[in-house]
Amino acid sequence: MLGLAKEKSVVGLDIGSYSVKAVELKIKQKGDNTQYEVQKIGYEPLPHDSIVEGTIIDSTAVSETIKLLFENAKITTRDVAISISGNSVIIKKISLPAMDQQELAESIIWEAKHNIPYNYEETNVDYHVVRSPRGAEGTVDILLVAAKKDKIANYSNSVSVARKNLVAIEVDIFSLINAFEVNYPEIFKEKTVALINMGANITNVGIVEHGVPQLFRDLSLGGYFFTENIRKELNVSFEEAEAALKGIPGKNINADQFASVLTMNIRDLLDEMEKTFSFYEAGEKRERRIEQIFLSGGLALIPNMVSAFELKFRIKTELLNPFRSIKFDEKKFESIYFNEMAPVFGVAVGLSTRKAEK
Ligand SMILES: Nc1ncnc2c1ncn2[C@@H]1O[C@H](COP(=O)(O)OP(=O)(O)OP(=O)(O)O)[C@@H](O)[C@H]1O
Ligand SMILES: [Mg+2]
Repeated sequence: MLGLAKEKSVVGLDIGSYSVKAVELKIKQKGDNTQYEVQKIGYEPLPHDSIVEGTIIDSTAVSETIKLLFENAKITTRDVAISISGNSVIIKKISLPAMDQQELAESIIWEAKHNIPYNYEETNVDYHVVRSPRGAEGTVDILLVAAKKDKIANYSNSVSVARKNLVAIEVDIFSLINAFEVNYPEIFKEKTVALINMGANITNVGIVEHGVPQLFRDLSLGGYFFTENIRKELNVSFEEAEAALKGIPGKNINADQFASVLTMNIRDLLDEMEKTFSFYEAGEKRERRIEQIFLSGGLALIPNMVSAFELKFRIKTELLNPFRSIKFDEKKFESIYFNEMAPVFGVAVGLSTRKAEK
């Protein structure tokens, strides 16, 4: 969390540049077993261009959309956790000798000042311990997270204008990893997986090895780039390009041209992905291999995305279902949220699985 107190029972609010998603869970602890049930869920598209390159340009549009979402989904809880990603967020993995909490906190400040390419005073810094100390001489792996204060202010402003109470700020990819751990606990512990969240502006990539996060990347690529290229190449409106991308081509869409633009865009995305995967696999002397890929986010829903990954990487790929191990009453909510659209809720579910923490 980036500088805010941790609280109990919050609405996971994923403010994307295309849509806002919210999930509220009921969390029951039974011994070692945690059970989750969807209490509330909602989705609202955002007016185009209200968020550009990760910055909220039209704060009113965003706060109005949040309000509308809470109204439509009948969410009355006001405490929310949001997440951010992109250029103004940096995640660095560092290794430190095992030390006590106090010393660790001091080292983190020193490391942050030396490892983060922003002015320390303009940055909020947080850290996650990803591997516990192994014995007296052990080391501890730390994920250092730094976000620019102006980015945080930009998002928290829209949340407070919507009259919600911001209790936590996370990073998109960490929320997605949370959602994955809750829903796929056995794979989380036993395998090396690539978790990918393909949105409109940004594609978040995280590689997790037997439960330990190893590599993160935010690629400046997403559905808007696809739509923009379709619009330009086929000379159609944004709406027509958008509908075609979602698999509903209108009369102005030339099928062959569309197919070739789509193929080219997917190829570019996969090439970027390949660089990230290669960087990971070449990162250490020991052999590292991604065993499974899980796709989420709106862009993952386009026809053929899963098979394009399988064809390119020869790695088992599937859509991430953030409700796989979570109870829900399909009759109470729009059932499409738990079916076709489920992968869009990865980040929101991850944000809402937060249990009471110290
Ligand atoms: N069936 C679909 N439903 C929703 N979005 C889709 C679908 N098919 C393709 N998309 C595309 O996915 C993108 C939206 O995905 P998502 O809602 O995950 O983005 P976002 O979280 O709002 O954006 P970001 O995180 O990049 O700021 C859009 O570009 C949209 O055109
Ligand atoms: Mg998103």
